[in-house]
Amino acid sequence: MDNEKELAQTLLQQVITKIKAEISRLDDQIPYIPVEGQYSDMGKKDIVWWTNGFWPGLLWLLYQQTHDEIFRQCAEKCEMRLDSAFDKFIGLHHDVGFMWQLSAVADYRLTDNERSQARGLHAATLLAGRYNPRGKFIRSWNHDRAGWVIIDSMMNISILYWAAQELNDPRFKFIATDHADTVMNNLVRPDGSVAHIGVFDPNTGQLLETLGGQGYETGSSWSRGQAWAIYGFALSYRHTKNNDYLNTAKRVANYFIANIVETNYIPLVDFRAPQHPRLFDTSAGLCAACGLLEIARQVPKYERDFYYQAGFRIIKAVASEYLDLDPNTDGIVKGGAGAYHDNNHNVKLIYSDFYFIEALLGLLSSDFLIW
Ligand code: GLY
Repeated sequence: MDNEKELAQTLLQQVITKIKAEISRLDDQIPYIPVEGQYSDMGKKDIVWWTNGFWPGLLWLLYQQTHDEIFRQCAEKCEMRLDSAFDKFIGLHHDVGFMWQLSAVADYRLTDNERSQARGLHAATLLAGRYNPRGKFIRSWNHDRAGWVIIDSMMNISILYWAAQELNDPRFKFIATDHADTVMNNLVRPDGSVAHIGVFDPNTGQLLETLGGQGYETGSSWSRGQAWAIYGFALSYRHTKNNDYLNTAKRVANYFIANIVETNYIPLVDFRAPQHPRLFDTSAGLCAACGLLEIARQVPKYERDFYYQAGFRIIKAVASEYLDLDPNTDGIVKGGAGAYHDNNHNVKLIYSDFYFIEALLGLLSSDFLIW
């Protein structure tokens, strides 16, 4: 067994033990950020919160790996709870992909559950309904932001590629690729860095400005946004085989790698923030690592090792300093950050745990395409 697989196997066993302990404490509650080592129920606080699919998603990853019913039963309970989010139409957003791709679509792919298929198609239809045909983009968020597009959206359009295939209806794919093209041409900069937010005129589709969003400032480089771009464009390439998407994923990946070497493969929250304070975000690293492993699967052999090794170095760096594998406390990956200017720094985020587990399975070559 080579080094990566040995490390991934050892960590995965510890993760499985810990997640089982978390399930016994949570039952059908949906976790987000533990406070003093304990999760509370995000499902109760805000059922349409964008991260509510990551817990069932990681449970499906572990179910696929172990076939242990404990993971399936807990994931099913959370998926059913998410049904009430469909009633809050006004509160739903472009993150319906994160919410139902990782819960219902994963369930359907693994179990053929027809109710889950319907939930996934419902979510895909809601996302498609956010399409602006003038600007050729899917609007993000709600309220008075009809022309706003954020880079995170690139991780949500997988549900459209899935729906196109499921219904044999290319409209969903047209919307996904129009959106990906608009993001590629307006948010990704020539040097491989990415703006978090693009503000378009919703009537003409013209780009008005870009904003720093969850990063430091306009023109800066929020690392999780860069990670969403790496993985999102790599996935769009997988679903379309359009080389422009793979080249974009590689351009952002090369930029990302250049920016983490100096910090030992743990990304700063924003690559263009002032040197002090030094704020880090492990979630950006792990999402990027999954994207780098995906690029490694798609590129010719002579480039594969570069992306694979960069992904592995991030996973190893997180594993060596940022893990809590104690089954008695909630949350696995430490060192996450919500946004540069908010109070959630150095926290455990449910999506960090999701991407960590996906990354371990990626190293073991035994993941299934949840995206
Ligand atoms: N807006 C989703 C995120 O925090 O990455």
